[in-house]
Amino acid sequence: MTKIFDYLRRTPWDQRAFGFDTFEVKQLSEDILQQLKTVPGHYTVKMSPLAPKDLLHKYGFYYCDSLLEPYCTREHFLFHHRDHIAISRHEPLEELLKICNGAFVHGRFHRDFHIDKHLADARYNNWLRDLYEAGNCFALLERDVLAGFLAFDKSKMVLHAVSEEYRGKGLAKYFWSVACDELFRTGYNELSSSVSATNVAVVNLYATLGFRFRNPCDVYHLMVKAETKTQGTSL
Ligand SMILES: CC(C)(COP(=O)(O)OP(=O)(O)OC[C@H]1O[C@@H](n2cnc3c(N)ncnc32)[C@H](O)[C@@H]1OP(=O)(O)O)[C@@H](O)C(=O)NCCC(=O)NCCS
Repeated sequence: MTKIFDYLRRTPWDQRAFGFDTFEVKQLSEDILQQLKTVPGHYTVKMSPLAPKDLLHKYGFYYCDSLLEPYCTREHFLFHHRDHIAISRHEPLEELLKICNGAFVHGRFHRDFHIDKHLADARYNNWLRDLYEAGNCFALLERDVLAGFLAFDKSKMVLHAVSEEYRGKGLAKYFWSVACDELFRTGYNELSSSVSATNVAVVNLYATLGFRFRNPCDVYHLMVKAETKTQGTSL
């Protein structure tokens, strides 16, 4: 029999927010999926949209999101300038967390009916805290007023949002221009991100900046609950 934990990767950052075991399934087979049913926890599978999904359905996995990877080299990047737009590393974390909390409604955990929305928010808030403390977060400013944040891990822009008051005004391309320019200046020749295909504002934003899209993937989840022993009455 396959050793199940050889085919799972723990995701401690999710576990920290949710309070139960969380895993990504690295490889799929009937044997592995059969064994998952006996190990309580939350499981993620990321697959090519064209790969067959029958095994996933058979073992109770449900669809949560489709992701796209925007990417752009320095030479294809389309900078959009506007006066009074700037980035800073000096805004207090607590102010950035106010923007982050509740912003990521397109995220796969917010769309997962097994996950409490507040816990899904906590997951992104924890992530922002880690990125900020590692020095990997720009505050986005308009006329010196905080309007959003863009957090990154090396050349990948992993978490970003504009505050509700600034959203939907066509300003994001100006903020992103300054932030991406700064990342290119640190020496990266290519920048990338990961976005939900359903989040059309962010898809259009990256398209406006000259990004193209690759590596589409579908995300499926499964929650295996611990069996509760019912007290039987013996006749
Ligand atoms: C994603 C986000 C940063 C975009 O910022 P925004 O201020 O809402 O976006 P903008 O108004 O600048 O619009 C961005 C582009 O999308 C288009 N757009 C905006 N809303 C749209 C909508 N509902 N449908 C289609 N297109 C839309 C705009 O035309 C614009 O393109 P343009 O500037 O080239 O005309 C912002 O919506 C946000 O913070 N959302 C919550 C957090 C989030 O989803 N982050 C991304 C996670 S991957």
